[in-house]
Amino acid sequence: MTKAKLLYVETFGCQMNVSDSEKITALLKGAGYNLTKDSSIADLIILNTCSVRAKAEQKVYSYLGRFKGFKGKNPRLLLGVGGCVAQQEGERLLEKVPYLDIVFGTHNLHLLPEIVLAAEKGRRLAEVSFIDNEKRLDLFPTDDTADGISRFVTIMQGCDNFCSYCIVPYVRGREISRRSSEILDEIRKMADKGVKEVTLLGQNVNSYGLKSRGEPDFAGLLQEVAGVSGIERIRFTTSHPKDISPPLIACFAELPKLCGHIHLPAQAGSDKVLSRMNRGYTRKQYLEKIAALKAVRPDIQITGDMIVGFPGEDEADFRETLSLMEEVGYADLFSFIYSVRPETKAAEYPDETSRLEKQERLERLQSLQRKMTLEGNRSFVGTRQQVLVEGTSKRGGQLFGRSSGNRVVNFAADPSLIGKIVDVAVIKAFQNSLLGELISG
Ligand code: SAH
Ligand code: SF4
Ligand code: F3S
Repeated sequence: MTKAKLLYVETFGCQMNVSDSEKITALLKGAGYNLTKDSSIADLIILNTCSVRAKAEQKVYSYLGRFKGFKGKNPRLLLGVGGCVAQQEGERLLEKVPYLDIVFGTHNLHLLPEIVLAAEKGRRLAEVSFIDNEKRLDLFPTDDTADGISRFVTIMQGCDNFCSYCIVPYVRGREISRRSSEILDEIRKMADKGVKEVTLLGQNVNSYGLKSRGEPDFAGLLQEVAGVSGIERIRFTTSHPKDISPPLIACFAELPKLCGHIHLPAQAGSDKVLSRMNRGYTRKQYLEKIAALKAVRPDIQITGDMIVGFPGEDEADFRETLSLMEEVGYADLFSFIYSVRPETKAAEYPDETSRLEKQERLERLQSLQRKMTLEGNRSFVGTRQQVLVEGTSKRGGQLFGRSSGNRVVNFAADPSLIGKIVDVAVIKAFQNSLLGELISG
């Protein structure tokens, strides 16, 4: 028997990439590679990359520099780059990085076993062609090796929105929905293996099915997923505000399995900036959707993303972002300084705000959010939360899980509760988690 070869995967960027890395692992297992957590002993290292901001892109080069040294010790070692930087750079990446063996794009995961085989024979290759039909989402084996209580399920890929700052439509291609029969099959198989919670994944899940004939829309898909027995909780990410429809809002009232949390990025608070970002909604429309969600689910937890220092954003615009945050009352927020991305529309916009000013705005925004997050966490003290127990926490003797609203809750209890939904009384709030006590019986 030949010795199994070892694969190391480093994942950057969003949940899409986390999910793609699982698929890469499953595909390469079929090609004789077992996963290792130790990069220094690997025979194949794959970087699954992100290009959403310049900093994320630069990381790839520093990691590659680090892994180059391993080639001296193991001349058989192959280095591959996949994901969004690979898609953006293609062949150029092989020219820039002479010791790189493989480049594969975001639509080419299924070709990896062939590509790796060719690389083992000494070929250097880049495969970054787009496949623009739903077949590209059906080409993967279900990753039977991954287990867990909570799993991600890709329901669509790509994006047609072309927000003026964003590279995703260029590196992930056009929006394509996976067939609902495939999605439900995968979820049923997961439920059979003990999975309790699924998170439906896509760049813009709210527009699921709108371009496909004979498929449900996103609200319809949620209803079908809720019908899978064994699945007790459903989440989804990411949502685009313009596509939050009344039937989807109704799901929060009608489907008890649908968790009380939505990630709904606003990106900015002023209409001027929103319009220049090509977001397709006004501040008023965004707030109306939030109000409609809160009306049907008063305890709904809202998280989001915000960009500061977009070209043309002045102090008054920025204050509108801060006031929007207060009006919404975000449970948590990811915030970024605008980063110029190749090919995007906003790359042509004149940008007069200094780096220092942008940094200062980011700090003001983040300090407001920290305060709101802590206040939000404190508001749970004295309440009873249903927690899906996911595992043992780093602190000895405690279990951790998430409330329906997606807060992390730690509490002392027996590990036999892992995988169960239990009632927990919240007794203390921290910046990033809650402390609770198990309510027995
Ligand atoms: N599809 C998702 C997320 C896309 S990328 C959505 O539409 O919500 C994740 C986040 O990165 C975005 O929500 C945005 O806040 C941020 N982002 C994207 N492009 C950026 C850029 N050029 N500079 C700074 N932040 C950016
Ligand atoms: Fe990027 Fe906008 Fe698409 Fe989100 S919706 S991925 S921010 S273009
Ligand atoms: Fe990054 Fe690509 Fe996701 S650019 S955010 S890894 S879709």
